[in-house]
Amino acid sequence: MAKFAGRVVLITGASSGIGEGTALHFAKHGAKLSITGRDKTRLEDVAKRCSECGIPADDILALSGDLTDAAFRKSTIEKTVAKFTRLDVLVNNAGLVFPLGCMELSESKYDIEMNLNMKVPFLLCQLAVPHLEKTQGNIVNVSSLSGVRPSPKVGIYCASKAALDMFTQCLALELAPKKVRVNSVNPGVVNTPIFTREDSFFHNKDEEASKFLKEQEVVHPLGRVGQPQDVAESIAYLASDAASFVTGQILFIDGGRHCV
Ligand SMILES: NC(=O)c1ccc[n+]([C@@H]2O[C@H](COP(=O)([O-])OP(=O)(O)OC[C@H]3O[C@@H](n4cnc5c(N)ncnc54)[C@H](OP(=O)(O)O)[C@@H]3O)[C@@H](O)[C@H]2O)c1
Repeated sequence: MAKFAGRVVLITGASSGIGEGTALHFAKHGAKLSITGRDKTRLEDVAKRCSECGIPADDILALSGDLTDAAFRKSTIEKTVAKFTRLDVLVNNAGLVFPLGCMELSESKYDIEMNLNMKVPFLLCQLAVPHLEKTQGNIVNVSSLSGVRPSPKVGIYCASKAALDMFTQCLALELAPKKVRVNSVNPGVVNTPIFTREDSFFHNKDEEASKFLKEQEVVHPLGRVGQPQDVAESIAYLASDAASFVTGQILFIDGGRHCV
């Protein structure tokens, strides 16, 4: 039987990369999906491919908008519960990285990065938890190896993910009496469009991104970078009943890099 049959899973940032891979993975396991992203066209394409994985098109709710907008956050939760009558899993995946050191990052970029990577998951949790309490559901935050590994090139990104990791663990303790689990996946480098976005590392230069990803293979002990599917599998594990005794976990999905 499908592992997530009858379960309602909300995934933010599902129009690209890890979120897209996670949506497709949950679709293969029979979940009802609420997916968000800013790019409506790409989000709808992901929704279509989710339905090609075997779930009815009506089991997918695609909500496009900016999660830094309070009204969009509120309507995302409300529309999800209105359509599916319940919420079982929240995957806080949407995030961004500015390739700038602490001395280079402007105050406005600091606000954008900390807001999306830390404040948005916090506020979405506040909105989602009343519904997760009813289902004894769970939350999976998508953090990063950068939360525990300092870098001179992306200092505030590291700080945002370190804050998210502490938030995950504090919230896990706070919600444990209510049987709501809270966990985190912390990927190493994963091959996604994050490296070629405007404002990102290689500014849409695919060749430079490919070179970077090639170079990154050797720093991950398993000899490759991650793929969205690697992270999706771990998110699904933490969200599943197989992890019913797991909460406050910070799970590295990094080919062993955190040990180096
Ligand atoms: N790739 C890596 O190497 C790596 C490593 C460790 C951790 N991570 C983490 O994994 C998560 C996903 O990253 P990714 O690599 O899959 O990146 P990605 O391909 O760039 O996808 C980012 C997603 O976040 C959404 N998003 C960005 N800003 C948003 C906003 N203001 N409101 C709503 N949605 C917004 C994007 O939506 P649109 O595209 O529709 O705008 C997109 O769906 C992030 O939290 C990132 O920090 C990534």
